[in-house]
Amino acid sequence: MTTQSPPVVPAETLTAVWLTAEGLEAALMDYVDLLAACIDGGASIGFLLPVAQSRLEQYWRAVAVAVAADERRVLGLCLDGRLAGSVQLGLSMPQNGAHRVDLGKLLVHPWARGRGLSRLLMQAAEGEARRLGRSLIVLDTEEGSLAESLYPRFGYQEAGRIPDYACNPGGTLHPTVLFYKRLKPA
Ligand SMILES: CC(C)(COP(=O)(O)OP(=O)(O)OC[C@H]1O[C@@H](n2cnc3c(N)ncnc32)[C@H](O)[C@@H]1OP(=O)(O)O)[C@@H](O)C(=O)NCCC(=O)NCCS
Repeated sequence: MTTQSPPVVPAETLTAVWLTAEGLEAALMDYVDLLAACIDGGASIGFLLPVAQSRLEQYWRAVAVAVAADERRVLGLCLDGRLAGSVQLGLSMPQNGAHRVDLGKLLVHPWARGRGLSRLLMQAAEGEARRLGRSLIVLDTEEGSLAESLYPRFGYQEAGRIPDYACNPGGTLHPTVLFYKRLKPA
């Protein structure tokens, strides 16, 4: 059981929204900027540097299509009206895995880091997964990253490591760490 630290940011300055496809399209450039800032900072989240803006726009448009199809949920977290972070739940599972979600793209903009937003995003994602009747969250992250040290603090269990799983933005292969968390019903 992890302890729940209070958020560092006063709640009245925060707005969290599960986006519609239209909402994501409307704020697309903010999401491109968030993703670009995280990649530039070295996060291994699916892209190699240099990354064209058009590739990031294409990525978020595909996410919007998945949101419209109810295959994905995207949470946007704004601090003082500015997009500060986001997290996603992949819902599309085989029939025998319908109790599961893939959590991914936990992103906090560099200007908003160190204020407890990652914990808020994870709590919101878990709440949504529970609301959707899902009982298992799976995710993976780069070995040695800050995120790897965070997930156990958020109550996630390590399931194992895969060597040479993906490249960091600079093109160097790195291992990935698989995590899971069982959710108790609300
Ligand atoms: C990983 C990431 C989401 C953390 O977001 P954040 O909002 O800055 O993190 P928080 O402020 O919630 O801090 C969470 C914990 O990490 C610690 N922490 C935050 N930044 C840190 C840093 N640079 N070095 C060491 N510890 C740090 C905090 O002290 C806090 O510890 P606590 O829970 O004991 O209080 C953010 O750095 C990020 O978006 N990175 C790029 C994208 C990425 O790698 N995502 C993960 C993909 S799997």
